[in-house]
Amino acid sequence: FMMNVLVTGGAGYIGSHVVKELLKRDYLVVTLDNLSKGHRDAVTGGVFVQGDCGDSVLVGELVKQYRINAVVHLAADSLVGESMTRPDKYCRNNLSNGVEFLTALVQAGVRQFILSSTAAVYGEPEYTPIDEAHTTRPINVYGGTKLMLEQILNWYEQAFGLRYVALRYFNAAGADPEGNIGEDHDPETHLIPLIMQAALGKRDKITIYGTDYPTPDGTCLRDYIHVSDLAVAHILALQALEAGAASAVYNLGNERGHSVREVVDAVRRVTGQDFTVEEGPHREGDPAVLVASSRKIKECLNWQPRYGELEDIIRTAWAWHSSHPGGYPKNKPGR
Ligand code: UFG
Repeated sequence: FMMNVLVTGGAGYIGSHVVKELLKRDYLVVTLDNLSKGHRDAVTGGVFVQGDCGDSVLVGELVKQYRINAVVHLAADSLVGESMTRPDKYCRNNLSNGVEFLTALVQAGVRQFILSSTAAVYGEPEYTPIDEAHTTRPINVYGGTKLMLEQILNWYEQAFGLRYVALRYFNAAGADPEGNIGEDHDPETHLIPLIMQAALGKRDKITIYGTDYPTPDGTCLRDYIHVSDLAVAHILALQALEAGAASAVYNLGNERGHSVREVVDAVRRVTGQDFTVEEGPHREGDPAVLVASSRKIKECLNWQPRYGELEDIIRTAWAWHSSHPGGYPKNKPGR
């Protein structure tokens, strides 16, 4: 008995890596993505359907047609800054469409669900490493919408018997080591791809957002996790649900903080390229330190990172960026 898995947002950065890991293990995969941010060429196999997860009729049809028995839900808007100026957009796309989607799924009989969640549910950390018992007080709308979805899942479990795993990602980075999929956002706001663009000469400089944080070198510490390690965690979560495990929430990080300066230096080392780095003011909403405890997922699901070193993460990112300097081809209409 094999699971047939519907992956929303499967054409996005993390979603495409999840789809690839599922395909390696011979799951039947249906990707549902509206391509508002995703790339058709990032989906390396399975069935691709262009559409919205909030389209209940479509979702019901897909579940029936492909006998879907589990879902990985990654489709969402995910820019922290934008979420503060466009809360309406985030509430509609992440929350309203998320609830429509969940409701269509339970009506169609799906009872196993993986939610792509985020470290942003915690807000300003009270201690680090952050474990799952840390209070959740999001300081941005994006994190707020993900936390609300987690809470709604809990109610749906009680009422409908839906079992779920919520994976709270820290900083996803890197690219699949085979080099055919990677990170391509428009606009790009993430540190590692921005530095890659600088290393490629596609950007004249990068700016460090704040050098007076209470950290060893004054710049923010983040917990970078390789996107393929993240993707494998979704497989383990699906297998746990399949085996009858109870619903759970897990952090996903490498339990180590790297400063912005450390990341810049590591990119210089790995790529052999030099580029201009300037120091600028804080970016609003950035906590000084975000480092995960991933003990729970290691103990409960036996998750282990394969690419835990920052250099591995940067090497795979560089392989993708240097071989795809223009990113993915632009989506063509009608594909
Ligand atoms: N940074 C810079 N210069 C830049 C871009 C980023 O110094 O040009 C710094 C940021 O201040 C931060 C670090 O690099 O300290 C990482 O920034 P990213 O934008 O790459 O990632 P974030 O930590 O802001 O955000 C990530 C995810 C979010 C998620 C969040 C959890 O992208 O979706 O982690 O807090 F919500």
